[in-house]
Amino acid sequence: MVEQLLKTGGVKLRGCGSATPSRSITNAELGLRVETSDEWIRSRTGIAARRVIGPDESLSELNGLAAERALAMAGWSADSLDLILLATSTPDDLFGSAPRLQARIGAVNAAAFDLTAACSGFLFAVVTAAQYLRTGAMRRILVVGADQLSSWVDWDDRRSCVLFGDAAGALVLEASDPDEDDLAGFLLRSDGRRGEVLQLPQGAEHSPLVGDASHQRGGFQTIQMNGQEVYKFAVREVPAILDSLLNTTATDAACLDWLLLHQANQRILDAVADRFSIPGEKVLSNLASYGNTSAATIPVMLDEAVRDGRIQPGHLIASSGFGAGLSWGAALLRWSGPA
Ligand code: UT7
Repeated sequence: MVEQLLKTGGVKLRGCGSATPSRSITNAELGLRVETSDEWIRSRTGIAARRVIGPDESLSELNGLAAERALAMAGWSADSLDLILLATSTPDDLFGSAPRLQARIGAVNAAAFDLTAACSGFLFAVVTAAQYLRTGAMRRILVVGADQLSSWVDWDDRRSCVLFGDAAGALVLEASDPDEDDLAGFLLRSDGRRGEVLQLPQGAEHSPLVGDASHQRGGFQTIQMNGQEVYKFAVREVPAILDSLLNTTATDAACLDWLLLHQANQRILDAVADRFSIPGEKVLSNLASYGNTSAATIPVMLDEAVRDGRIQPGHLIASSGFGAGLSWGAALLRWSGPA
């Protein structure tokens, strides 16, 4: 029955959008805060600057802008959306920020909920959206990947603070005939046993409640990362999952137009591309300008490459997200653009 339902429809990628904070912080500026250098950060990561949300901005505002730009590209009105999925690990409201995004853009007919899978969140959300579209349960879905890790970075920890930035990216998807499916294949993985190498845990503070009972106070610590272990995880698992995806979809890596990986480190991008002999000009990267923006990296990069004309209708894109959880996934996507 499930198999039958899965085969009844396909999905089309119709529009994308993105929004980033106005303030860019260069490596040299970070060097005023921690002992680091532009040379070290560039050579180890490829990052030259990152954007950080300032006092007159908010992640909700960026989410709204990214969503409106994606809707405008598709030529859709917000009230035609059936669902909004907001992939984020940094909601403005722990009960969920997606309904606020729904209200902000006037998507009055859409259900809305958050999905948390750190840097894999956008990819996980796209695959989730595709299930509603393929079964025919819904026609139009907005997926937003957005994070404000600047709120949770220890800005005195040079081993992690140089990596991260804030951004929001959006993609709108539409149900289609099964033989016109833009999601040619996907694989999703998680391994919570290795989660401690990259985490943002709750604080462990307890306050007296009543009698001998206490309660744990809300609040989180700062990002805790073992960079070397995360690096090893990425360069091992991302090629492996992409290899499985190419095999299961009978796709030759030479047929790919673009490699669109989670933007974590240029060395990771290069290592994965090398594994499949994908030339550098097919590897999308905007790490230099934005650093690692978690759930936002893939849609922000997609939007940049669609708007500057690199990604054209019909192009085949291999994408992979990976990060905390641990979680990772891969998807083979075709860009259609507006109908
Ligand atoms: O979405 C996933 C998010 N996380 C990641 O993508 C992280 C993946 N990991 C990485 O990208 C890399 O491991 C890092 C960029 C974080 C670090 O690069 P590395 O080549 O693995 O450096 P390392 O941790 O081995 O450190 C080498 C040296 C150390 O000094 P000593 O012990 O050799 O004297 C560090 O203390 O570099 C030092 N170091 C720095 N120096 C200047 C670490 N961070 C910095 C810094 N500036 N920012």
